Amino acid sequence: MTSVAKRFRNALLLATFAAGLGTPVLAKEASVEVAVDTATTGPVIDKHIFGQFAEHLGTGIYGGVWVGKDSPIPNVRGIRTDVVTALKALKVPNVRWPGGCFADEYHWRDGIGPADKRRVQINTNWGGVPESNAFGTHEFMDFAEQIGSEAYISVNIGSGTAAEASAWIEYMTAEKDTTLAKERAANGHPAPWKVPILGLGNENWGCGGAMSAEHYVEEMKRFANFTRNFNPAQREKDKMKRIAVGWDGNKLDYTEEVMKAWSTHVYSWDIEGVSLHNYTTGGWPPHLPATGFGNDEYAIVINETLKMDSLIAKQSAIMDKYDPEKKLLIAVDEWGAWLSPTPGSNPGFLQQQNSLRDGILAALNLNIFARHADRVKIANIAQMVNVLQAMILTDGSKMVLTPTYHVFKMYVPFQDAQFAPVKFAAGELAVGDRKLPRVDAMAAKDKSGQVWVSLVNVDPDAGTSVTIPGFRTASGEVLTAPKVDSVNTFAAPSVVAPKAISGKPSGSGVTIALPPRSVTVVKVSK
Ligand code: AHR
Repeated sequence: MTSVAKRFRNALLLATFAAGLGTPVLAKEASVEVAVDTATTGPVIDKHIFGQFAEHLGTGIYGGVWVGKDSPIPNVRGIRTDVVTALKALKVPNVRWPGGCFADEYHWRDGIGPADKRRVQINTNWGGVPESNAFGTHEFMDFAEQIGSEAYISVNIGSGTAAEASAWIEYMTAEKDTTLAKERAANGHPAPWKVPILGLGNENWGCGGAMSAEHYVEEMKRFANFTRNFNPAQREKDKMKRIAVGWDGNKLDYTEEVMKAWSTHVYSWDIEGVSLHNYTTGGWPPHLPATGFGNDEYAIVINETLKMDSLIAKQSAIMDKYDPEKKLLIAVDEWGAWLSPTPGSNPGFLQQQNSLRDGILAALNLNIFARHADRVKIANIAQMVNVLQAMILTDGSKMVLTPTYHVFKMYVPFQDAQFAPVKFAAGELAVGDRKLPRVDAMAAKDKSGQVWVSLVNVDPDAGTSVTIPGFRTASGEVLTAPKVDSVNTFAAPSVVAPKAISGKPSGSGVTIALPPRSVTVVKVSK
């Protein structure tokens, strides 16, 4: 290990120790010193950790993204304009599609060609409702282009064949005059698309075919072998990353078997990453209400979500055994809060409100991913619109931005910025029967050299102040609200909305007053 790497690791360990393990419970009023180490060169926080997930589930696609060309709701080629405008501001790096469980029953040919010829089927996973296939490959790629994002395509290993997946990737990426490229052109898109990320199945231990890890690995190898990307623009750089299915907090054997196979793989197949799925639920099946809760349930959810750190560490430890050079990445390609469905909604649609608690949960997870930036290079929150921990909720022509949306927008400066270790000793806080860290902090330097700091005041009741030594100014945005379960609604869309915040020089640093239950992102200067 180089001395820089050692320093970086030690700083990380210190920050981790300070952030939680065995630290004293400090007096609530104590100000917290957050020391940002800009001299140490940390890994780049890959922009792809800010990815999203859009599955054919409930109104996530139909209604939330796709309204059809003839809809009175303003749209461009069937894709709603208000949602596109909102998502563009998030600089969404990639969108995972078409699932989820839906992906392992998806047959791409059902979703191409004339609209009136598409196969209508039953969405067996999600509510048993008709799936029109009106939103298929061309519509998805159009959507990704409209929001300025890239495609993360999940192929069907569960009920499909390697030949089907191979033909789909050729259809999307072949430039030459092949039969499939001509068919794509005839369907309206002569130029090949880029497919930068390819998911090799989804949760194949469960909805993806209930395969043993050994069986999955044999299937995955064939799919990795035969799904070839032909786009010339992806030959040298932007090479397609293939993501195998890893664990979900229970099926650790998947990660082990995938890595074991990869460590002795032959020339004909390869992968670039292994997935990790984890939802914050408060227990299975998900039962915690999305609104109308107090500090105790806030603490249950926040305490549970912080376990993401140890899940990543466990998966990393397995991967390290076979891949000490960290050639393969972790894709946390499903994460977020999974709560009780909105009363009156179809339970199969997984629709839930999104409160300030979700915003805080999002910030804490993004900070964890950033701390694991050497391994975690892709993450996809579940999901983008109207499903689980969504960015956006719609109802007919109405749209509202959630607290989680605002956090993702505040975090845009961290995309592709260089992680800067922080040291802080905030102590712990007892809420109900759970212990929480009082404060969380994460910092990074963007490409222009500007330093950004995220500060989360986890305390639901008390404000605090943070001093960052060595800097004199701090300005940015803070997200908070009157209660931990405050939400935005169509009638009151700005209850949880970011406001400007700035720090004051104090001593040799800058001090920022953090309101209770808040997420703050500031740029700091000397
Ligand atoms: O995001 C909802 C579902 O959760 C996905 O379809 C599946 O992969 C996971 O179990």
